[in-house]
Amino acid sequence: MKTKHLLSIKDLSVNEIKNILSDANDFLNKKSIQNKILKKIKGKNIINLFFEDSTRTLTSFELAGKKLGASIINMAVATSAIKKGESLIDTAMTLNAMNPDILIVRHNMSGVPYLLSEKVNCSVINAGDGSNEHPTQALLDALTILRHKKKISGLEVAIMGDVLHSRVARSNIYLLNKLNAKVRVICPPTLLPAGIEKMNVKVFKNIREGLRNVDIIMVLRIQKERMEGSFVPSEKEFFKFWGLDREKLNKAKKNALVMHPGPINRGIEIDSDVADDIGRSLILEQVKLGVAVRMSVINKLIN
Ligand code: CP
Repeated sequence: MKTKHLLSIKDLSVNEIKNILSDANDFLNKKSIQNKILKKIKGKNIINLFFEDSTRTLTSFELAGKKLGASIINMAVATSAIKKGESLIDTAMTLNAMNPDILIVRHNMSGVPYLLSEKVNCSVINAGDGSNEHPTQALLDALTILRHKKKISGLEVAIMGDVLHSRVARSNIYLLNKLNAKVRVICPPTLLPAGIEKMNVKVFKNIREGLRNVDIIMVLRIQKERMEGSFVPSEKEFFKFWGLDREKLNKAKKNALVMHPGPINRGIEIDSDVADDIGRSLILEQVKLGVAVRMSVINKLIN
């Protein structure tokens, strides 16, 4: 990769994206490649530095690092010297002094991985920063689409729900546009980011119109932790008007597939009947492919 870090999908060329996805596919299909790469990565050190909760990203980075033969440490932020007042930058510089090869950072403030990348000499991976970006989620979503639809170019992809607070939406919009998908967002006006039209997406404020003829539906989690004030009516009303249920899913193409980055709020943004439909829902497949994509990213960043 041209860059030392993975901070944003914007920094990746189309070829780099295709290479990451192709290597991830190889990790899934051919054990021999994994063994070759093991020699390069054995003995390298990776630190997971997560200031925000995570199940999927944290665990899959840990599994990915271990499968490649690296040592991977999950720093326990809650019991670290941060609790004694050590700053974010001092924490990163302290960890950097122990010579890790990669620092994987999640934080609730947009821009923190960028800031830390300027203070350390190892590679930094953005594992989700505020409402800004979640690049490895977009990469694993692309691999999931590719494995099921055999292409991304020309597909109609709808991203629906809490677009305003979603780093997953932003990274996916950048990536899907780079790979020539047709992207639309469907959400209530209160959850629509200002200026989103400039990101080359079509905006729909009517869910049934927005779902018409789509190939892929990416449902987003309502991010209550990032909401100050009232962005949505009651959860019951949100589900009625904006939640994906069978009746609304039937407006999309007959073979449309449903994705969600997780964790899901059942009965708020998605109905269990849709989330658990193994013929239509790719939610657990996304989790599975996340390990291979993160192996591919780690391998690209370690020299
Ligand atoms: N999709 C995602 O980032 O999930 P986690 O918060 O569990 O890591």
